[in-house]
Amino acid sequence: MKLLIEQQSGKKYLVRDITEDFHTFSGVISCKDLKSKKNLVVSNTGKKFLQFTPTFPDIWEQLQRGPQAVLQKDIGLIIAKTGINGSSVVVDAGGGSGSLCLALANLAKKVIVYERNPEHYKLLARNITQSGIKNIELHQENIYDGIAAKEVDIITLDLPEPWRAIPAAEKVLVLGGHLVVYLPNLTQVQIFTDAVRKSSIKIVETIELLERKWKVEGEILRPEFQMLGHTGFLTFCRKLHDDTYKDKKN
Ligand SMILES: C[S@@+](CC[C@H](N)C(=O)[O-])C[C@H]1O[C@@H](n2cnc3c(N)ncnc32)[C@H](O)[C@@H]1O
Repeated sequence: MKLLIEQQSGKKYLVRDITEDFHTFSGVISCKDLKSKKNLVVSNTGKKFLQFTPTFPDIWEQLQRGPQAVLQKDIGLIIAKTGINGSSVVVDAGGGSGSLCLALANLAKKVIVYERNPEHYKLLARNITQSGIKNIELHQENIYDGIAAKEVDIITLDLPEPWRAIPAAEKVLVLGGHLVVYLPNLTQVQIFTDAVRKSSIKIVETIELLERKWKVEGEILRPEFQMLGHTGFLTFCRKLHDDTYKDKKN
């Protein structure tokens, strides 16, 4: 895979298939140039492009959007709070466009994804294939019916009724494992937190992140007029009791 950036306009192109010439709005880049190690290539119309191996955010930006995706500010916090790493086994539902599950798979050992809607599943499967990320196991199933995995380190839920997945999450999370719930409405957060309080999973905190970009150009130093407002609330939980503990207590 290669990333092309047109020097003049800054327009980006992700080239997934390096077996033929690539057509851009500013001319054609030859397959020979794409296969080469050159950092600077020129289209047949004389436009200059930088080319290099894409990083994960370059791939993430090009995902085809369908259902409302989790955005980078929230993904960043999930990564920071859960400590996800190369040995983490993660379950994510619903998969949606794959924005969150792909970002997690970029860091984790394995991500098991549930998406029950056939249309969303198709889009998700395509986005996963096109990303080139291989450590995702995809299930076209309803997560409320159970999770077919054991010893899960992190579960992320971005679906309308996450409280219905608590029994399944309790069963498969390791002790100390993280459950992260992303919800757009506070009413949903309330129902979820009331339900999770009755389980072996304990609430740590609920956070909303606001992101404001700034215009920094010569004499102009001010916030952008438009900002990314509310996306969702993130509720972070951990499994703090295991079955043995519950048995002893009862
Ligand atoms: C808002 S989208 C998720 C977006 C995704 N987190 C992303 O970053 O691209 C919610 C998805 O959950 C799926 N969904 C809802 N309930 C579900 C369930 N019980 N099991 C599996 N998927 C479910 C929906 O079909 C929808 O695609």
